[in-house]
Amino acid sequence: MTSVTLNPQVHGIFDSATWTVTYVVHQGPGSAAAIIDSVLDYDPKSGRTRTTSADQLIDYVKAQDLQVQWILETHAHADHLSAAPYLRQQLGGQIGIGDQITRVQKVFKGIFNLEPEFRLDGSQFDVLLKDGQEFAIGDLTARVLAVPGHTPACVAYQVGDAVFVGDTLFMPDVGTARCDFPGGDAKTLYASVKKLLSLPPETRLFMCHDYPPAGRPVAFETTVAEQRAKNIHVHEGISEAEFVAMRTQRDATLEMPVLILPAVQINIRAGQMPPKEANGTDYVKIPINAL
Ligand SMILES: [Fe+2]
Repeated sequence: MTSVTLNPQVHGIFDSATWTVTYVVHQGPGSAAAIIDSVLDYDPKSGRTRTTSADQLIDYVKAQDLQVQWILETHAHADHLSAAPYLRQQLGGQIGIGDQITRVQKVFKGIFNLEPEFRLDGSQFDVLLKDGQEFAIGDLTARVLAVPGHTPACVAYQVGDAVFVGDTLFMPDVGTARCDFPGGDAKTLYASVKKLLSLPPETRLFMCHDYPPAGRPVAFETTVAEQRAKNIHVHEGISEAEFVAMRTQRDATLEMPVLILPAVQINIRAGQMPPKEANGTDYVKIPINAL
């Protein structure tokens, strides 16, 4: 278990179009690596995708001579498309996500009335990861932490002293993720946050997003100690009831993310596009008054 104590190198790339941070976790030049929460650029006005962000990531991986073993998702994102299939094609590695993704697939297969062949067993992904499961990234040991609440399938990845929290916590001055998507639940998120904040105080926490208040530069790394002391939604002393009341009230004021409809349809397919229609084009659907 000595590898658990290793402190990996973490490289974060912020995507200003979707406020998302993609991470590469590794042990230095020439080592094995995992990519967490990649972004495929998507323009909702034209329906066009681009790989500018993914190519920037690939440039970093190649410059560091990293061997990508894993392309991980913390959850089926609603605010950006995953570049996982493109990255796997370019760099290798296996696409992994939490095993509860099957619950999310079931909900959205219904909402989008997806083709009968759409599988609800998560087999679009290479590996489904269970709560507590450990897996290797070269000499590093990674551990899966189920952190449902924002979605029922959210997981965090613990690698040495670094934890990639997905959409559970944001930076202390931003708070926590919304819980009003299908299958989301504020009480469940509170429990997941407490689970993360019970880790050692010096644990490094890496956010999946940053929405910096005016005047603050983008930031996406903090610690358990800092979150416990300063997180505006869940610092020590805030009860479950207080959190649920705040979260529920706040979620009622939030608009849907701009990309939720295309993002969900593509991300529950591990980043693959829906089956091409007879004319050779991929389409996503817009359900009217269903979300
Ligand atoms: Fe999310």
